[in-house]
Amino acid sequence: MLRKFHKIVFLTGAGISAESGLATFRDPSGLWNNYDAEIVASLWGLQSNPTLVHQFYNELRKQMALAQPNQAHCALTYLQQNSSADIHIITQNIDTLHEKAHTQNVWHIHGQINQLRCVKCGKITETWLPWTEHCLCYSCHGKLRPNIVFFGEEIFFSSQIERLLADADLFVAIGTSGTIPPASSFVQDVRKHSSLTVALNLEKPANYRDFDIVIEGKVSKTLPCFIEKLLCYQ
Ligand code: APR
Repeated sequence: MLRKFHKIVFLTGAGISAESGLATFRDPSGLWNNYDAEIVASLWGLQSNPTLVHQFYNELRKQMALAQPNQAHCALTYLQQNSSADIHIITQNIDTLHEKAHTQNVWHIHGQINQLRCVKCGKITETWLPWTEHCLCYSCHGKLRPNIVFFGEEIFFSSQIERLLADADLFVAIGTSGTIPPASSFVQDVRKHSSLTVALNLEKPANYRDFDIVIEGKVSKTLPCFIEKLLCYQ
């Protein structure tokens, strides 16, 4: 199954950051068991309860600012540094652990925790500080919102993602439950052409039947092993 690959696309989810101390969404102790996603991850929630929504992201930002990449993040960087393949990381995560691990070609399709977007002029402000609904855009004094994709909104970089998936000869999903579209169907887009599809997750993801190979276990262990095998063919 493994061979020399030329265009590798990784899709990461909250599970890759779990061992860095960041909560996932749907595990028993996950964020959606402690917060109502309908409020903190929706435009309706931001408009009806801005204080709670800002508090939620302020708390996440504080945790994410301190979190450090784990062996799984570092393994992706190691692969990029030791392979001639074109390697891109599509991440559903809003933390910046891939960047902290110096991984290149990272596409945050759900946005980033350290970014605010002006609802008026669209300008992006980067900050790790807490903010409230009273913070205004420096340029046009418009209202600022999390630069994060809420449920029901379009993901970012969709045309670039489409191209990456169309060209990939290896697609690897890491630490994602495979439940949230459109990311959960990226594997089907890749399967349309001859490529190998692999899922690494603590347990079988919901879309495990779409993958050629499913490797269960903690990704801080399984991903470095997988990458070591991959490099034998690079
Ligand atoms: N190693 C491997 N997998 C792990 C680990 C670990 N150490 N810890 C947890 N997991 C797995 C869980 O078993 C679970 O299947 O990671 C997966 C995380 O799934 P979710 O919590 O659903 O997170 P994710 O798939 O990233 O969610 C996708 O949903 O709510 C939206 O925008 C949010 O980006 C998020 C999207």
